[in-house]
Amino acid sequence: MRFAGNFLCRIAGAAALFACAAQAADLPAPQTLQRQMPTPPQAFAVYEPHLSVGDRHVTIRYVGYPAVAVFERILGRNWQKRGEAVELRALDGYVSRLPVSRFLAKRGFLVFARQDGAPFTVNNLRQNEKDVPLGPWYLVWDNIGNPALIAEGARNWPYQVKEIRLVALSDRALLPEGLDPRFRPGAALVKTHCLTCHKVNGYGGEKFAGNLAEIAKGSDRAEFLRLLLVPAAQRDGATMPALSDRLPEAERRRIAGAIFDYLKAVPVLP
Ligand code: HEC
Repeated sequence: MRFAGNFLCRIAGAAALFACAAQAADLPAPQTLQRQMPTPPQAFAVYEPHLSVGDRHVTIRYVGYPAVAVFERILGRNWQKRGEAVELRALDGYVSRLPVSRFLAKRGFLVFARQDGAPFTVNNLRQNEKDVPLGPWYLVWDNIGNPALIAEGARNWPYQVKEIRLVALSDRALLPEGLDPRFRPGAALVKTHCLTCHKVNGYGGEKFAGNLAEIAKGSDRAEFLRLLLVPAAQRDGATMPALSDRLPEAERRRIAGAIFDYLKAVPVLP
């Protein structure tokens, strides 16, 4: 199928090639992809952010491929020119949108096993979840000796990834007409910190139903901020991670406040 598609694209000429290349694709099972990749899988050592607490980093060696090599194979040549972001969709509705530029500047790996043969699972300490299956695919980053990546924590490490697609970073849902420009930074923060799991005006992940813009309208500011900063204090067994718990407290409060003020201000779109 794949071969036929490429062949048709090629004889149709360069203009059509653009349209023929895949924009969205299910990631094949690891054994299947292994047969399609030009090089065998490799081991990559990373500080596992789900297991690292404070400055105590836990090094895990995972087996997989450089993410860009998988994209090249699955999305086709010039994938990096056909979208602004790579969207990774997980089995449980979690959606991660990461700029294409990030994959070109930092080393990300799509992995499918641990090198030591231990189960391909992780304890997600911040989300109160044990033995979370990571497969079929897990995106990890070469964060050893990279303070900026370490500071991000597990935010950009989606697991149970089953599908990838190239998307535009459409801001129309987040920045509708009429929104005061001073809320723009808040919108960017929501994108970074919340939209992997939640939606604003239909844009974002599907881990929790509901429109954050609508929820915020009926919420008390202090209570909302507490929920973001210490979810466990607001409800038992919360699986929502605390907002960037690697940042200084004052910075976390500032981010949470900007997020709430934006959500309160942004018009709710149908
Ligand atoms: C990793 C996924 C994830 C991220 C990231 C996340 N949340 Fe949540 N959130 C959840 C889940 C799951 C729940 C459901 C309650 C629970 O299990 O904690 C929830 C619950 C909530 C609720 C309560 C909704 C209700 O009506 O009860 C609010 C409000 C909320 N989140 C806002 C936010 C905001 C704002 C951000 C960004 C700062 C954010 N969340 C980031 C997963 C996430």
